Amino acid sequence: MTNVAQEQKKRVLSLIQPTAMPTLGNYLGALKNWKEMSRDYDCIFGIADLHALTSRPNPGELRRQTLEMFALLLSLGLDPDENIVFVQSHVCAHSELSWILNCYTQFGEASRMTQFKEKSHKQSDNINIGLFAYPTLMAADILLYLTNFVPVGADQKQHLELARDVAERFNGIYGNVFTVPEPFIGKKGAKIMSLQDPAAKMSKSDANPKASVSVLDEPDTIFKKFKSAVTDSEAQVRRAEGKDGIVNLMTIYSCCTGKDFDAIEREFEGKGYGDFKSAVAEAVIEELRPLREKYKSVVADKSYLADCAVKGAAAAARVSARTADKVKKKVGLWQKP
Ligand code: TRP
Repeated sequence: MTNVAQEQKKRVLSLIQPTAMPTLGNYLGALKNWKEMSRDYDCIFGIADLHALTSRPNPGELRRQTLEMFALLLSLGLDPDENIVFVQSHVCAHSELSWILNCYTQFGEASRMTQFKEKSHKQSDNINIGLFAYPTLMAADILLYLTNFVPVGADQKQHLELARDVAERFNGIYGNVFTVPEPFIGKKGAKIMSLQDPAAKMSKSDANPKASVSVLDEPDTIFKKFKSAVTDSEAQVRRAEGKDGIVNLMTIYSCCTGKDFDAIEREFEGKGYGDFKSAVAEAVIEELRPLREKYKSVVADKSYLADCAVKGAAAAARVSARTADKVKKKVGLWQKP
């Protein structure tokens, strides 16, 4: 690829919080697309460890989960020379710009964030200012890199809207400093539901361990979970009202094999749910196998992890410092002589 072509690539950015390992749902809905996007876009992916502080995690656990999530991103198969993978707290411009953006964000608009309201309810003994300012840190993450597209789930859409509003406001006052980011709408917005309750989204915090598959689950665990997935009593693999469990399994099978729903219905015509569930489990096992195997070797190699973190932070710092410097100058801070 020539340098010119590379410069013309649009930029995609997303960060993920270092919480428990993602589920198959997170993988099919987001992470799998990250790898695909990395071919056509200039991608920046990061671990949002500063955001995680808003719920005061156990320090040892936060450190471990940050390393593990970083290892997972490195295992997705992104090209490390073409894309940036980094840890948010390793790049000081994020905290810096987020403070400046706080001063360009109204109390009223931050108060309207539904996630803030939900989290205030959930952690009512710790409604800290970080929780309130969470969206301006996220706006800083995005705006520092002059990001064109942000792949976001429904729960983060309002935060992206806020980032756009703040960028437009700032540009309106100081001239074109920020690129106004747009949501990235993937081709297949796969929403994967719980294997035990197809009305609920598959979630890593589900109390029932059989409801969700982790991206790192071993093959026999995956097999058992699919075998006990909730279906219906009709015994026909097809799309229809009231067959949400089967439709969910068909969606998973489709995402892993690339087959469409018509092809899947034909493939399993006259076959029972036992055969279908085994086929879905096998497809998921094969889909996740390369990731799990790569992860095991990456997470065990502490010096490789450290090298990648240093390299990622340096690359992210180069891009973000340019934006941060420009912002500081525009608002009138005295540039360090
Ligand atoms: N808030 C996002 C989440 O919890 C994580 C995140 C932080 C993010 N900064 C971001 C996502 C920037 C996209 C872009 O899922």
